[in-house]
Amino acid sequence: MSSSVTPGPGDATGSAGSAPGNPLRSVQDRRLPRIAGPSGLVIFGVTGDLSRKKLMPAVYDLANRGLLPPGFSLVGFARRDWADEDFAQVVHDSVKEHARTPFREEVWQQLCQGMRFVPGVFDDDAAFRTLRETIEKLDKERGTGGNFAFYLSVPPKFFPQVMRQLKAHRLSEAPDGSWRRAVVEKPFGSDLASAQELNRVVHEVFPSRNVFRIDHYLGKETVQNILALRFANTMFEPVWNRGYVDHVQITMAEDIGIGGRAGYYDGIGSARDVIQNHLLQLLALTAMEEPSSFDARALLTEKLKVLGAVRLPKDLGRHTVRGQYTAGWQGGQWVPGYLEEEGIAPDSVTDTYAALKLEIDNRRWAGVPFYLRTGKRLGRRVTEIAVVFQRAPYSPFDATDTRELNNNALVIRVQPDEGVTLRFGSKVPGTQMEIRDVTMDFAYGESFTESSPEAYERLILDVLLGDANLFPRHQEVERSWEILDPVEEYWARHGRPEPYTAGTWGPKAADEMLARDGRSWRRP
Ligand code: BG6
Repeated sequence: MSSSVTPGPGDATGSAGSAPGNPLRSVQDRRLPRIAGPSGLVIFGVTGDLSRKKLMPAVYDLANRGLLPPGFSLVGFARRDWADEDFAQVVHDSVKEHARTPFREEVWQQLCQGMRFVPGVFDDDAAFRTLRETIEKLDKERGTGGNFAFYLSVPPKFFPQVMRQLKAHRLSEAPDGSWRRAVVEKPFGSDLASAQELNRVVHEVFPSRNVFRIDHYLGKETVQNILALRFANTMFEPVWNRGYVDHVQITMAEDIGIGGRAGYYDGIGSARDVIQNHLLQLLALTAMEEPSSFDARALLTEKLKVLGAVRLPKDLGRHTVRGQYTAGWQGGQWVPGYLEEEGIAPDSVTDTYAALKLEIDNRRWAGVPFYLRTGKRLGRRVTEIAVVFQRAPYSPFDATDTRELNNNALVIRVQPDEGVTLRFGSKVPGTQMEIRDVTMDFAYGESFTESSPEAYERLILDVLLGDANLFPRHQEVERSWEILDPVEEYWARHGRPEPYTAGTWGPKAADEMLARDGRSWRRP
């Protein structure tokens, strides 16, 4: 192992600062970087897109920031006839193409020495025996201390088999004083029943505290900032309720189509793909009560309470919309419709757009609708939460002077232009009392010199640290399916999705849905 790398401040060859509750993390050193202790990561499905575009670059970026221990090891498992060097080459190419931080040869060299590849399929006992030997050797050679996380970046249909093998080959059993954790990618099931079954399968092998379910939205800085904005300040919380808020709009719009993911996407659709997880998590963080601390248990308690109070309106025909894109111009390019995409069934009824209204039955939110929408091939890529306030109860101004004044709004810009916008009315300079909307903006890029880590950097580091704050627990996942299942069942019984042209903002029916409530969608 090369010793040429300076892993950065607080180089941890041990686990200092690594575990929550670690006595070494006193009040004074809380601001030191959190650095992983001796450990390794095994990725199943390492040849997939997620692994190449997100996981491998995130591991490199962590190493480059000095947040991984010098002996950190990365083991790939997949059905490829690769040697360790071939695997390292694939990681190298992915890092060169997708890493956030600059390439540094010395960091790469050190990381590369801990890379191993185990060829095999999931029902191959010999491959799992090799995996076990590989891990034991890494413990000896690189001091990984028996601490390994197993990342299942594979379709859920393989979870049971991988779990069985991890158990049968005693890979899930942590040797004394070490840990073994499972990291599970979405989709976590396709409805409540399948999610419960997956949870059962995973929990048979790993105790709940060692299971880390990924919802990468929780790893985004701007999403974590929702809690900072709400609970570290005094000025927002007093108006964050039905007394002042008219409604909330949560939008996750994408301009991309389904790319090469037809096999996963067709039959799943946009609501299962992102509303069940990302959007309901955004709703939970926006609407929940203040947790007693920023700790996994306290967060779970509050998120579950608010998700438990979420209610679907009775008439799902009026308050939900699903759409499917047709061919159109987008960004100066003619793009095919969903049904013309490669691998999509020609009569597919899969939704590529979904919008729904939810109510929250509690004292804070009674009567305040939360509108959620998402779609592929929309006007542009943007994720935002808009808290739209009520109009002033009385206006001393002339109606014509306020015709360009909209409701006040606080918009949390999750991406891509990360920040927060406050929209309010202001007098237009001149001799008249004319009032028009203006905005006050906070932009990450202008206020902070630090750049935001990628969500997967944060989440992989947290797995290695055993910090579960940013990972949905099984109760949240199941409750989210419970909310979505009736919508999916309703859609399955009622016709086809509404067509919308690629590059627009979704089906007309979605505008009508809000218009019936006397409101309109924002055009971000
Ligand atoms: C994933 C969905 O969870 O999130 C994809 O499966 C979607 O369909 C992606 O494209 C969007 O992530 P981000 O971070 O680019 O908003």
